[in-house]
Amino acid sequence: MAIMRAMKLAGSELMFGKGCLEHVKTIKGTRAMIVMSGGSLARNGILDKVCGYLKEAGLVSEVFQGVEPDPSFATVMQGAKAMLEFEPDVIVALGGGSAMDAAKGMWIYYEHPELTSLADIMAPNPFPPLRTKARMVCIPSTSGTASEVSRSIVITDEHKVKHGIGNMEMMPDIAICDPEVTASMPKKITAETGMDALTHAVEAYVSRRANYVSDTLAAQAVRDVFEYLPKAYEEGENLDYREKMQNASMVAGLAFTNVSLGIVHSIAHTLGSYFGLAHGLADAVVLPYIISYNSADPEAARRYGELAALAGKTDFAAAVRELNQRLGIPASIAELVPDQAAYEAVLAPMAEMALADGCTKTNPIIPDASGFAELFQRIYKG
Ligand SMILES: [Fe+2]
Repeated sequence: MAIMRAMKLAGSELMFGKGCLEHVKTIKGTRAMIVMSGGSLARNGILDKVCGYLKEAGLVSEVFQGVEPDPSFATVMQGAKAMLEFEPDVIVALGGGSAMDAAKGMWIYYEHPELTSLADIMAPNPFPPLRTKARMVCIPSTSGTASEVSRSIVITDEHKVKHGIGNMEMMPDIAICDPEVTASMPKKITAETGMDALTHAVEAYVSRRANYVSDTLAAQAVRDVFEYLPKAYEEGENLDYREKMQNASMVAGLAFTNVSLGIVHSIAHTLGSYFGLAHGLADAVVLPYIISYNSADPEAARRYGELAALAGKTDFAAAVRELNQRLGIPASIAELVPDQAAYEAVLAPMAEMALADGCTKTNPIIPDASGFAELFQRIYKG
């Protein structure tokens, strides 16, 4: 099968492994704006290290702190304004998916102050060119979203609707994946972001655009997540396990950003918009149900069988359920959204939102709106 869309595997520099944070010393530029969420990376000394390395590289830096989980467009505009004042030629996103997505968003509006709304960068509008003012460096502190090697961001608008926006222009120039930066992740975040990484790999592996290269990356990620996520969850201080998960997340990211995802993500985005469920947690709960659903497609079923073998199992949906259980992740949405009446009242609009999600079109089987409504019911009751 010929590839009809060029693969892009990371930006210009991809660093990974213990100690690679030092690569920050080699960054070229004069002014760096560091974008981050809360204070944990400031408290544990990682921010000081990054600032010290930037100084060694001859850059002055300023910190934009306070990116919230599920970053809003308002935060993106606030950061862009801070950048317009500071005029960085390097943007350093330091944190999890929220910090990285927000920083990538700020970058767009910093480069193009004439753009003022989220709609300005979404279809049918053309995506604007970047890198006239700054280059993007991502340093992930979680092992899951893979925003450091992805073309996409998820930004929440003023109506609490999450918008996934993707364009290769947003692929970060430099990704620095040092497991030490992820070492302080709490257990719950380790579990949820790790299951996001697994979902990326699984959805890429059965994507309608899957190819030889993405299969190679996704398969290794699946193998490593099954082996090392429970270990990283149990022994978070072990940097070897953190490194395996950081690398698995990164290669799963390289796969999915090229061949896209499937309806686990469509449903998780929707549940995030309607009920504020954390992304990785929603993915984890929904994934085994969609494996069963997609298995009606013989090619998808065959591929899940391959993944099950990599995990040392025969039934892949059961293997994912078992992994969830080990990580303390619930088996159904009812455990996360106890108000059943409120959930059932929005089945129709949720089905419409999931159907319209950009991840739906590469799923092995594409449900219609009533099919989605049925799936939303199935994942609720378990
Ligand atoms: Fe994801």
